[in-house]
Amino acid sequence: MEKQSNQDLKIRKMTSDDVLKVYDIEKQSFSNSSWSLEAFYHELEKNEFAHYFVVTLGEDIIAYCGLWLVIDQAQITTISVNKNYRNSGIGQLLLKYVMNFASETCTTMSLEVRLENDTARHIYEKAGFKYGGIRKNYYGDGEDAKVMWVSLK
Ligand SMILES: CC(C)(COP(=O)(O)OP(=O)(O)OC[C@H]1O[C@@H](n2cnc3c(N)ncnc32)[C@H](O)[C@@H]1OP(=O)(O)O)[C@@H](O)C(=O)NCCC(=O)NCCS
Repeated sequence: MEKQSNQDLKIRKMTSDDVLKVYDIEKQSFSNSSWSLEAFYHELEKNEFAHYFVVTLGEDIIAYCGLWLVIDQAQITTISVNKNYRNSGIGQLLLKYVMNFASETCTTMSLEVRLENDTARHIYEKAGFKYGGIRKNYYGDGEDAKVMWVSLK
């Protein structure tokens, strides 16, 4: 992909109208463990702790991220960038945005990541996340997750 100027990109709250476009990215990103459409609608319409954001380029949605804010703890539930737009800084841009958003009310942020997901681990480490332990059999396919966390203060 051509490098996008950050000025072309916008980050805004995700709505139910965005779910089908987000679901397309979800399927290409997590082929064997993708969320269902219903899971996204539930998060947006029923989960009072959930906050979801999308990155747009014109009319297109090219990335999304979700998080739960529970009192002073933030948890990233998902983050993904359209394959055609990866490795151009969008994941890190979105990660910084949600960290800043969460820091208004939360003191720490955590997430789970697959052991072999080197790119994701790289952007989390670069943003200051540290390893907090392993969650055994965390993913549907039985793979363990690494827990990572960062102080937001
Ligand atoms: C993880 C993901 C969100 C990153 O988004 P992105 O827009 O490609 O990320 P960025 O372009 O901002 O940054 C990528 C960084 O990873 C680095 N990178 C690329 N491939 C890498 C690899 N195989 N190993 C380690 N680092 C790698 C890049 O060099 C860049 O780091 P730099 O800025 O220090 O040079 C994206 O790859 C994605 O959607 N993956 C599928 C879904 C997923 O795995 N989500 C995370 C679940 S925990």
